[in-house]
Amino acid sequence: MAARNRMPPWHENVRLANGRDLLIRPIRPEDADPMRAAFSLLEPDEIRQRFLHPMKELTSKQADQLTRPDPRRDFALVAAEPLPPGEALVGAVARITIDANGKDAEFAILVSHYVNGMGLGRHLMRRLVRWAKGRKVQRVYGDVLESNMPMQALAQSLGFRSEPTAEAGLVRVVLDIPPPKPKLPPLAAPLQPSPGNR
Ligand SMILES: CC(C)(COP(=O)(O)OP(=O)(O)OC[C@H]1O[C@@H](n2cnc3c(N)ncnc32)[C@H](O)[C@@H]1OP(=O)(O)O)[C@@H](O)C(=O)NCCC(=O)NCCS
Repeated sequence: MAARNRMPPWHENVRLANGRDLLIRPIRPEDADPMRAAFSLLEPDEIRQRFLHPMKELTSKQADQLTRPDPRRDFALVAAEPLPPGEALVGAVARITIDANGKDAEFAILVSHYVNGMGLGRHLMRRLVRWAKGRKVQRVYGDVLESNMPMQALAQSLGFRSEPTAEAGLVRVVLDIPPPKPKLPPLAAPLQPSPGNR
């Protein structure tokens, strides 16, 4: 997957291995209708893996909530056709929400079967982690079905570890984000050569 061009923050044009061009960008309220349409084309298993339970449809209320992230604590990216929001079909959505403690953030991702297996999942997960680092988040986590080997393999390859959860059939994948190294204070005075070296 190749990324190209200078774009606004969190915008990227990408070309997938099959030649399809997509625009990765923050989600917009206009994406609600295309997302509802795309939802009806998903496999039941994709939906269950993402939402952890079966869902027949994405209601307009749910779509509105998903497409209006709270900028103080949420971040959501879509990979969509390079068309104006509202017209563009949405092929993937990745989101992250900072918990009330300000330290942990939960991700969720869905790369539809039309565009999976070509590096989008890895790319979007890296972008979520980058955003979380910028917000000084200490841990990124997600709950994944035990049977969901693709997501577990992806998380593991990005450095996530697995933890049991209280709920049967789920594992939690967790990435610890070390705090940034403190910057060294500037030297008080330039180094002087020692007397013996003069
Ligand atoms: C899991 C998911 C996000 C992966 O997205 P993707 O775009 O296909 O992933 P990528 O192409 O970037 O692949 C990244 C890694 O995922 C793993 N992976 C992807 N597809 C896989 C498969 N079918 N079997 C095993 N591992 C797989 C591999 O480790 C792969 O790395 P590799 O290509 O170096 O082998 C996608 O399959 C998906 O959305 N699934 C349904 C929803 C879901 O499971 N969400 C997670 C819970 S919130």
